[in-house]
Amino acid sequence: MSDRAYQECINPFCRATFSVTEARVSCGTCGSLLDIKYDWSKLPVPKSLAYFEHRWSTKGNDTSGRVDFSGVWRFRELMPFYRTEDDIVTIGEGRTQLQQADLLARQVGMNKGNLFLQYEGLNPSGSFKDNGMPAAFTHARMVGAKRVACASTGNTSASLAMFASLAELQGIVFIGSGKISFGKLSQALDYGALTLQIKGDFDACLRRIRQIAVDVPAMGIYLMNSVNPFRLEGQKSIMYRILEARNWESPDWIIVPGGNLGNCSAFGKAFAELKELGLIKKIPRLAVINAGGANTLNVLVNEHQLTWNKGEVECEKIGKLYAGMDEAHYHPNTVASAIEISRPVNLPKALRAIEVMNGVVREVDDDAILEHRALVARYGFGCEPASGASVAGLRLLLEQQVISPSESVVCILTGHELKDPNVTVKYHTGVDMKSVQDLAPKTEPHGKLSNRPIVVEDDLELIIKAMGGDVSMLKGVKVPQHHSILPVREY
Ligand code: F0G
Repeated sequence: MSDRAYQECINPFCRATFSVTEARVSCGTCGSLLDIKYDWSKLPVPKSLAYFEHRWSTKGNDTSGRVDFSGVWRFRELMPFYRTEDDIVTIGEGRTQLQQADLLARQVGMNKGNLFLQYEGLNPSGSFKDNGMPAAFTHARMVGAKRVACASTGNTSASLAMFASLAELQGIVFIGSGKISFGKLSQALDYGALTLQIKGDFDACLRRIRQIAVDVPAMGIYLMNSVNPFRLEGQKSIMYRILEARNWESPDWIIVPGGNLGNCSAFGKAFAELKELGLIKKIPRLAVINAGGANTLNVLVNEHQLTWNKGEVECEKIGKLYAGMDEAHYHPNTVASAIEISRPVNLPKALRAIEVMNGVVREVDDDAILEHRALVARYGFGCEPASGASVAGLRLLLEQQVISPSESVVCILTGHELKDPNVTVKYHTGVDMKSVQDLAPKTEPHGKLSNRPIVVEDDLELIIKAMGGDVSMLKGVKVPQHHSILPVREY
């Protein structure tokens, strides 16, 4: 194992370590999530964040120039898990901007000069997922992966499909029935990913692809969802760019929508490390905003007082809530389809981030999401519905006097407005142009590159066949029907 970078179980009662040359999505000892850890004493850590400024003038087609151009990898000393710069995968992602939003500030009741929007929709595939993919693809290349896959509400699949086509790997995406927006679906199809529409919701899709990645090794699947700890390394860079745009000074608050809770987890890790390295004075506070129709984190934190508690998470509370959801046949439902998730896989890491960043959690309803999405667009370039939740959450926290108008606040706008034009058109005209309820074709597509999605029941054998495998791959493999979303022991 490289002694400078390794994978470590987040469960403080386990702390098992694994080499970075392994592809894992959970701890082999206790089943908890994994972190990428570094022995900073053996690594060249910059003395101050201003060190990174020298990269602004270096871009070009040689390896270093390419890597410096990336808004993720120009901070590579803070995510040094790769062997050499030649390992690094980049498509020029992360060149996004922080915009001071005075007109919007006035509308929501913030003081002039204190509200900032971080436009992650300006990434190549149009969402913040492009920050995590280059890190995960770099790792996939390090371990020699050939097929990469994810379950997705849309943006992960678009980003995976784009990176997979450029890295010449086979991309496979599982999407749930009914909710994916056309913008995101069209990207996965266009970039050539094998697209399976599973009859179920996002949680069911993730359970299946995780099961196949772990229990059916013959399929050779490298999992790209945010349970992959390498992906979250890349997503830390969103925080570095915010600091960079603010002359390396932390804001008072970061506000982010919460779905599978990978992003907020990555933010907490970024700030914990920067503080440990003495590179920042102050850690900002975090606000994670759920949609009311997919509010697991809010319920657990605010109704059941669930906390990280130095790693002693009260798992019974989570188990009880999930059992109740099963019993009631509950499925999340929100206009912000990107965050329509009821069993967020990064829940323990999100609780840890809330502890590190003295965070709060809130939920906002669909009307508030729609109104604030429209407000962002009215005063600048827009965002998709899930991102509107950040600004709706800000308004709520101002009303509750948790945030004061004189504090500095950054709302993360996670995805581009054009990801979900149907919501926008419906908002303005009342006309519902879609919903992809059923992708079963009514007519045969006949483009030379037509890449039709395959509709398949939530059944392991049928899914393996649709992925080009055969059922003999399942022989002798112990395949549980359901793969616990809760890591085995602690959480
Ligand atoms: N905003 C957008 C636009 C998203 O696409 C997502 C997640 C989130 C917020 C939530 O981020 O999961 O890190 O808490 N989209 C995933 C997907 C689930 O499949 O594209 P998170």
